[in-house]
Amino acid sequence: MSEPIPAPQAPSGPAHSTGNLLELNDIQAGYGRAAMVLRGLTIKVPAATVVCLVGPNGAGKSTVLKVASGLLRPRSGEILVGGRDVTGQGPQEMLSSGLAHVLQGHSVFREMTVAENVLLGAYTLRDKAKVAERVAFVQHLFPIVGERWKQLAGLLSGGQQKQVEFARSLMVSPQVVLLDEPSMGLDPKTTATVFEQVVRMRDAGVAVLLVEQNARRALETADIGCVLDLGRVHITGPARELLDDPQLSELYLGGRPAESALRKEG
Ligand SMILES: Nc1ncnc2c1ncn2[C@@H]1O[C@H](COP(=O)(O)OP(=O)(O)O)[C@@H](O)[C@H]1O
Ligand SMILES: [Mg+2]
Repeated sequence: MSEPIPAPQAPSGPAHSTGNLLELNDIQAGYGRAAMVLRGLTIKVPAATVVCLVGPNGAGKSTVLKVASGLLRPRSGEILVGGRDVTGQGPQEMLSSGLAHVLQGHSVFREMTVAENVLLGAYTLRDKAKVAERVAFVQHLFPIVGERWKQLAGLLSGGQQKQVEFARSLMVSPQVVLLDEPSMGLDPKTTATVFEQVVRMRDAGVAVLLVEQNARRALETADIGCVLDLGRVHITGPARELLDDPQLSELYLGGRPAESALRKEG
């Protein structure tokens, strides 16, 4: 951790840019000797888009984000950021390539102020003017973060703390933010607010790869939906169309596990 990492820049690399900010192509990944969790997963995140990956508990959603942010090296497959091959990079390199990961669960330090929590995301930035610019940006995007700036984060509600986590992730000006189940533990009203903030992030120019168990609500928010099943993206398309598809709705959005129904096709 002694070496500061540079602020992310638009990757410049081989000329096979596809217009997608992030591509995971044909990824195989897993843990130790256990069976592979991801078995040929492909997912693409265009600019200014919320892509949502839905699937039941244990399907591998967090694993996808761990691969994207360099926490887990894929066994095979390719990771492209802005068309540049970043396969095999570790978490710090992925961060400097422009991928920020908001982990599943709660990562706010309750005994620290909102300011201290957000500024943790800026530890790689040396330029004070840049830090001030990013603080102004996140306070504008998430007004509650500005209003509670000097208060202890533990005094904030769950939904407000989630916004503190979002703000922290945006300090390094990522191109793509990876959000792991931001609705976890939140009531429906708070979940709606948090998803509104996800849309605000997109509208501010940050692409989002969102993974959610709360499939229906997430698809209502996202532009593109992907359904994870048996280690692959089984279906992908405009989120609205996925929501309106009666068979899909029955299989994936009614709260029933779908694996048995789809295994025959796998
Ligand atoms: N660190 C780990 N070591 C071993 N197995 C893991 C680890 N993390 C996740 N798994 C396994 O990988 C599978 C997918 O997990 P995960 O990606 O967390 O699913 P999801 O986020 O969709 O609930 C599960 O079977 C889980 O038990
Ligand atoms: Mg998970």
